[in-house]
Amino acid sequence: MSDVTGSLRAFWSVDTLEAAMHERVTVPPQPALWNDVAQAAALRDLLGGIELPPGVEVLDYGCGVGRVTRALALTGARVWSVDVSPSMLDYTARYCAGLPGITTVLSDGLGCADLPAASVDGAISCYCFQHMPTLGMVAAVVADIHRVLRPGGWFQLHSVDHGCDAPVAEVGFYGVRQRLTTLLRIAEEARFSIERVVYPLDPAEAVKQYLLTLRTS
Ligand SMILES: C[S@@+](CC[C@H](N)C(=O)[O-])C[C@H]1O[C@@H](n2cnc3c(N)ncnc32)[C@H](O)[C@@H]1O
Repeated sequence: MSDVTGSLRAFWSVDTLEAAMHERVTVPPQPALWNDVAQAAALRDLLGGIELPPGVEVLDYGCGVGRVTRALALTGARVWSVDVSPSMLDYTARYCAGLPGITTVLSDGLGCADLPAASVDGAISCYCFQHMPTLGMVAAVVADIHRVLRPGGWFQLHSVDHGCDAPVAEVGFYGVRQRLTTLLRIAEEARFSIERVVYPLDPAEAVKQYLLTLRTS
């Protein structure tokens, strides 16, 4: 295990499910969002019009406690929930207990090496890329998600445009600063087609977020 993987695991291990929800995922705490109706609406926004046909197989990269995984599974999707933190994967199992079709997969932080190539129809990553400590890690993960997608597969990438690419001093909540244009270049280098860019998601917010639809050919 590399030092960076160990540092990521240390930071993203928290003592309780509640702490993981409110101190690591929806920060500052927003308890009103943690219900299935609100999360179904959030998933619709994340999908940006992409349909989930019966039996669809979806990768949830950086799944945290399984907020997106749970909403996906409730639609009937088969979900591969990937995270660098074993603690987060335990919480995903608890938060999604009783729902069928979910497999948790431990990552080294550089992708999902345990998943075969061309094995999923779509991928979602929400609020994960902005926490990655290096642009090299960002590029490795984008390339590996391209590897596991089937031809014509989609990748809904939701993250934050920091307006610069400044490095991070240490592994923690704040990752390397990233420009939207940097992410787009990395996606093209990984051979994704850029199908759609929604930016900013909410013009009123101080920190601008984006939603990309990337596609394999
Ligand atoms: C803020 S949480 C978001 C969780 C979830 N996607 C959501 O929206 O509710 C970020 C998650 O990304 C995971 N993570 C951070 N860097 C990662 C990496 N390089 N590879 C895999 N998971 C990572 C963390 O362990 C954490 O569970």
